[in-house]
Amino acid sequence: MERDSQNYLKLLEAVLENAHEAIVVTDPDGKILLMNRTYRDFVGVQDVIGRHVTEVIENTRMHIVAQTGKPEVAQIQRIKGQDMIANRVPIFADGKMVAVLGTVLFQDVRQLHALAATVDQLKQELAYYKREFRRKLGAVYHFDQIVGLSPNMQEVKNLAQKVAKSDTTVLITGESGTGKELFAHAIHAASRREMGPFIRVNCAAIPDTLLESELFGYEEGAFTGAVRKGKKGKFELADHGTILLDEIGDMPLPLQAKLLRVLQEKEVERVGGIRPVSIDVRVIASTNRDLQQRIREGKFREDLFYRLNVVTLTIPPLRERPEDLPRLVDDLLEQLMESTGIIVKEIADDVWSVLHEYSWPGNIRELRNVLERAMHVMEGDCLKAKHLMISTSDNRTASSGVPTLKESLEAAERAAIVRALAETGGNKLEAAKLLGISKSGFYQKLDKYGLLN
Ligand SMILES: Nc1ncnc2c1ncn2[C@@H]1O[C@H](COP(=O)(O)OP(=O)(O)OP(=O)(O)O)[C@@H](O)[C@H]1O
Ligand SMILES: [Mg+2]
Repeated sequence: MERDSQNYLKLLEAVLENAHEAIVVTDPDGKILLMNRTYRDFVGVQDVIGRHVTEVIENTRMHIVAQTGKPEVAQIQRIKGQDMIANRVPIFADGKMVAVLGTVLFQDVRQLHALAATVDQLKQELAYYKREFRRKLGAVYHFDQIVGLSPNMQEVKNLAQKVAKSDTTVLITGESGTGKELFAHAIHAASRREMGPFIRVNCAAIPDTLLESELFGYEEGAFTGAVRKGKKGKFELADHGTILLDEIGDMPLPLQAKLLRVLQEKEVERVGGIRPVSIDVRVIASTNRDLQQRIREGKFREDLFYRLNVVTLTIPPLRERPEDLPRLVDDLLEQLMESTGIIVKEIADDVWSVLHEYSWPGNIRELRNVLERAMHVMEGDCLKAKHLMISTSDNRTASSGVPTLKESLEAAERAAIVRALAETGGNKLEAAKLLGISKSGFYQKLDKYGLLN
């Protein structure tokens, strides 16, 4: 026993002596009982035992804590021109104060600042890697990137943010270019699946004959010409993540039946497969078609519609949220300036009235195209209404009764040209191709309608 406690004392002494922190212990009168090497070296005094603490350490409050009995934690104390972080704690035994323990954690507060800076940098790096990781996985947008100051957008955003947290199936509807895909991304990024994959399937773009194997995969030797080893479908790839079934309104009927089974059973069967594979996937579907109408036409299954229609987000068209125009224009111009290298320093007042009056059939995608085209035709760095090459007259009916047939035809022709230009981002050659007319004919018409700047 005697030996043990002796060994223990030696150990304790060695630990204190070698600690990186500066440690001092005084008796209730402020006389030093113990001061470790780190502290002695720092103050530059070796012979300290029995001396009053105020003679050895500058600005000390050890003797004050000895009187008040109140601990002082994380106090800044200046010693030898350096700000230190000091803790002073009274030590009690049998209800009586027997000593005061003082420690200094950092030799200098600057070390703490340096540590905080390092942690801060690590946090930023982590956020960056998280973003990059998500980008690699497929989801790029977040709710804070979706401009929506108008009340109708606020409402949709709130609902979307609420459902993001759950695994509920979401149906996103809205006109072309309203940001349906953006919402799907944001929902995934705000869900507990954010670190899982985000897989988008465009049901309209994949040929009917391939869609099934694209969605559900196929087994080895399922059909001639198929890759030997078989292939995972998009559903399997989206396991533990989110799948966006884009343009769901265009999915062929037989596949709709199969999709319904997947949604009900939560398992997929590969083409040519024997056993179903269970999957954990959150489904988001989107369409710019009127699904009720498709149901009436017998082109969309009603039971699938009810499966998908648990929560529906209806994104309002741009013309119903004029409050969002300034922010959208701002954000889009910023992106476009970066990608095109063209600078817009000023927006003329007449731009706003045109933007507000136009009906935006292509919504935000069209707005982006219109702005990009305008930047290319602009001379100087001021954006003017004439650069937009949209005319609000398409929206108005003639004030004096019925327009002549010629006027109507011209209005339609002009609108078609504007539409084609918006679609091709201002590329005249492609626009002419879209319209099925020659390049020279196209230029003549541009001139006729004042669309050549
Ligand atoms: N609220 C918004 N804020 C910022 N950018 C937006 C917003 N909504 C859409 N955009 C931009 O508009 C473009 C079209 O958006 P998106 O592809 O999501 O439309 P969509 O509704 O899926 O259209 P479609 O039905 O034609 O597929 C994208 O470039 C997107 O970045
Ligand atoms: Mg889309």
